[in-house]
Amino acid sequence: MSQHYRLDTKSQTLVLAERDGRMAQIVYLGAALPQAQSLADVAQAYEIDVTGGMLDAAPELSICPEASQTFPGQNGMIIRSNAGTLMTPRFRAHDAQVTDAAIVLAYKDDTNGLTYTAQFKAVGDVFELSARLVSDDPIHLQWLSAPVVPAPQNARDMIEFSGRWIGEFQTDTTPWLAGARLRNNRTGRTGHEHFPALIVPSVGTTNTSGDALAFHYDWSGGHQMIAEELPDGRRQVQFGNAPDTERHAGHTFETATLYVTHSQNGLNGCATAFQRHVRDAIVQFPDANRPRPVHYNCWEAIYFDHDIDQLKDIATRAAELGAERFVLDDGWFGKRDDDTTSLGDWTIDPRKYPDGLQPLIDHIHAQDMRFGIWFEPEMVNPESDLYRAHPDWVLGALDQPLGRQQMVLDISKPEVREYLYTHIADILTNYDVDYIKWDHNRVLPVADADQARGFYALVDRLRHDFPTVEIESCSSGGGRIDFGVLSRTHRVWLSDSNDAIERLKIQHNAALFLPLVVTGSHIGPRECHTSGRIIPIEFRAWVAAQRHMGFEMDPRELTDHETTVLTRVTQWWKDNRDWTSQADILRLNSDDPAVISEMQLAKDGAQFVVFAGRWAASDQISPRPIRLDGLDPDALYKLSLVNSDEADKASRIDTGLLTGHLTLSGAYLMSHGLTLPSRFPNSMWVIKGEKQ
Ligand code: DGJ
Repeated sequence: MSQHYRLDTKSQTLVLAERDGRMAQIVYLGAALPQAQSLADVAQAYEIDVTGGMLDAAPELSICPEASQTFPGQNGMIIRSNAGTLMTPRFRAHDAQVTDAAIVLAYKDDTNGLTYTAQFKAVGDVFELSARLVSDDPIHLQWLSAPVVPAPQNARDMIEFSGRWIGEFQTDTTPWLAGARLRNNRTGRTGHEHFPALIVPSVGTTNTSGDALAFHYDWSGGHQMIAEELPDGRRQVQFGNAPDTERHAGHTFETATLYVTHSQNGLNGCATAFQRHVRDAIVQFPDANRPRPVHYNCWEAIYFDHDIDQLKDIATRAAELGAERFVLDDGWFGKRDDDTTSLGDWTIDPRKYPDGLQPLIDHIHAQDMRFGIWFEPEMVNPESDLYRAHPDWVLGALDQPLGRQQMVLDISKPEVREYLYTHIADILTNYDVDYIKWDHNRVLPVADADQARGFYALVDRLRHDFPTVEIESCSSGGGRIDFGVLSRTHRVWLSDSNDAIERLKIQHNAALFLPLVVTGSHIGPRECHTSGRIIPIEFRAWVAAQRHMGFEMDPRELTDHETTVLTRVTQWWKDNRDWTSQADILRLNSDDPAVISEMQLAKDGAQFVVFAGRWAASDQISPRPIRLDGLDPDALYKLSLVNSDEADKASRIDTGLLTGHLTLSGAYLMSHGLTLPSRFPNSMWVIKGEKQ
């Protein structure tokens, strides 16, 4: 007896097959199948033969592979009884709920009193998968995978993500080999080190062509990924919360959501599905029609040295450059003159703000800017009133190594959340706060799922009570970026690196998942504080203008030239943000490794902008043509350089784009590509395209 289930997104189909009451298998996840396609035949075609060296039947690669089925790889669930004995569940079909948008399959193991439920949803062009385990008796959970997805066997490699502080979103290409590739993030946060995602590109896939299957797991408490090739050649991908982060026996355990999307249009197909999903289905802006405001963040201008007159002067200048929101960063509370003290003491420092924050906020409002403020709620310095009063609120041992001089509060404790809520709510109630920058500057002493749940509960309560306040997720830059945090916040601080060269690379890779509207990007000080590099203002400005733009330098350091460039680029960003905020970011193939290029293509395809960032000198003399993506091959596009006035001495003749515009077909632009004028390194050409 077999059951078959089908779920369709806009351009993809997922087929589940359940045989003889055993756990279902995903027997297809790929390009949309015709409605006439027999699901039974798809299931049949998925079966592998039995031959020498195998069991008499190939164990199913089910949505939760079971040891009881003699599965030859990593199991989808590892649990122990309350007494610590390893359990070997054997699930049988119990219930199925099917709608056009969702399939929910429930399985029971009566002997052990267990119910496993898998949920599959089709939203936009993304599948959302999650699993839940309920036990009659308390049990210990070591590992629970979201429904397991088979990976294509026509892939030679997988693309993984790693990184570090000021070097987020690095990509690694790892080969598929026999056995398991395992990423186990023990940091207790999403982390710079292990962005929870995987892309499986078929052989030959590029940014713009070929098949790819992409995954993202939306848990902010640290994940585990297993990508395994079985002895018979089948491959499985598992994602779940990092193992052993459920620290107590319990009755109910759930995975976070695993987002899966398949593309036939290269990596860009996956990237745009995720970007749209985040923008249209995940992030909940308090006012969706409000344009993203240009930011000013004072951190790299003043650090802990808060002086209200200087801040007012900075605010006036930031507004003149075009800023629309002023964010008061770390240093306004307790006695925080450096990072050794006061986290946890969320009261305004009267030495710095004798009349509270109102005089500064009034000034900011008078400049037509809104006001945002920094918190790091989950942390405490041993040198603080809070720690002295409540050392018992700390997570982990008191003699643990500190991280940035601080410890983590155990926010699974309701009284800790209550304390934090009260202090944050106090500021939000007493002042007109438009925005919170929510920081988290160290890893946890122990990875604990309750900590992530406590964080979610605190944010959710604040959002419920202060629904107009937007929140930025920051964690030493990009240490807490995932779709789970983005369902509760509105912007991510992608990196503490404001170095335009580094930022160009980081945001290029982050675009595989993140749309412009949530991706913060700032212009930092002339001499970059994290690299020491001095980079021309033009390049710094355009790199920030590729995403949600902001400034973070001290505007008092700016020369007239820098002020002119910044004001002009900011105005360009504002003039275009209505459509760029809704645009797809398409990563362009890099035929020249010295140039990182992308397109932002308007929703209606009527216009686009190309950013071609030259971060190094090329091996060859002249720039290589840049091949575009996503255009109508038969349409003509009028192309012009937005910043032709930035041409430098590298270019000695006036080519077409430097002096005027060119009209070229989509076919030409996508197959031959656009040849740009020569330019010195650390520069960006910005090209506008309009469909004729
Ligand atoms: C780390 C953040 O990433 C910075 O932007 C800044 O907010 C500091 N923390 C403040 O301590």
